[in-house]
Amino acid sequence: MTYPTDRPRRLRSSAAMRRLVAETRLDASDLVLPMFVREGATEPNPILSMPGVVQHSLDSLRRAISEAAEAGIGGVMLFGVPLEKDAVGSGATDENGILNVATRAAVAEAGDSLIVQTDLCLDEFTDHGHCGVLRVSAGSAGSITETTVEVDNDATLLRYRDMAIVQAEAGSQLLGLSGMMDGQVAAVREALDAAGHDTAILAYSAKYASAFYGPFRDAVQSSLVGDRRGYQLDPANRREGLREALTDIAEGADIVMVKPASGYLDVLSDVAAASSVPVWAYQVSGEYAMLEAAAANGWIDRGRAIEESVLSIRRAGADAVLTYWAVELALSLRRR
Ligand code: PBG
Repeated sequence: MTYPTDRPRRLRSSAAMRRLVAETRLDASDLVLPMFVREGATEPNPILSMPGVVQHSLDSLRRAISEAAEAGIGGVMLFGVPLEKDAVGSGATDENGILNVATRAAVAEAGDSLIVQTDLCLDEFTDHGHCGVLRVSAGSAGSITETTVEVDNDATLLRYRDMAIVQAEAGSQLLGLSGMMDGQVAAVREALDAAGHDTAILAYSAKYASAFYGPFRDAVQSSLVGDRRGYQLDPANRREGLREALTDIAEGADIVMVKPASGYLDVLSDVAAASSVPVWAYQVSGEYAMLEAAAANGWIDRGRAIEESVLSIRRAGADAVLTYWAVELALSLRRR
């Protein structure tokens, strides 16, 4: 019998030893909480597919922001749920639109305690539910006339530029560009600079056309018909995720993001290795819902699974993580 000379178990021998040699740590300041605010709501409204997550009223938003600040998380990402929608998403550029009203309330509540971020995308505000404005073209195939509807990239950029200025004026400190239009970072940066706003840009660079956004669409009462495969990335593509991130950095993104997180750790790792700016990841609604559902059935240890899932995302290269568990996790880290 020959004995192994290489014994990695020495460094796993006690909790104190494991803590000392841990390569990755979780810290409240690296967590960002996505939050939904519903126009006209007087009470927080539970989201069925995301147990524990609500659509906030303005009052409950303020309370939740103060709890988030108390928990020490790094920031919040706001999404608006308007009562009325139209083809161009007018509510997005209305200073009295729900997202912009909520932003002012959140910034006033948060002060310097955390960074208030806003979703810069049209899908919550359009009646067709797409992330941009549509172009309808009629072509004819044989004797039948075919109508194709697609998102008009460059017309959408004009909407994003206006949206960026309204959000910056409402006090957003970080604009989350999640629409996946080509050139969106450069377009928004130019518009902000021209208007004298130095607001930072978080680019959802490698955002995949994922089934894991399902519960989110409930959360924002999405009107989407069809899918987003014409503009979000194909889950089959790894190299393209890196390409998107590098393009966004070249266009002036201050932070780049990979989304979803758990199924895309390879992309996250690639982007983290190549990026000159911070890299974030979004642990999306479907990742949340799956784990909550398994835990509710007693099939998984909820607390440990939450921590392991976020730790894995950090280990793969995310500097910060958007997660619906941000506040809960921050509080549990403190109790150790
Ligand atoms: C688009 C947006 C989406 C999410 C964040 N921003 C939905 C989509 O692209 O369909 C999904 C987030 C989640 O699933 O938690 N505004």
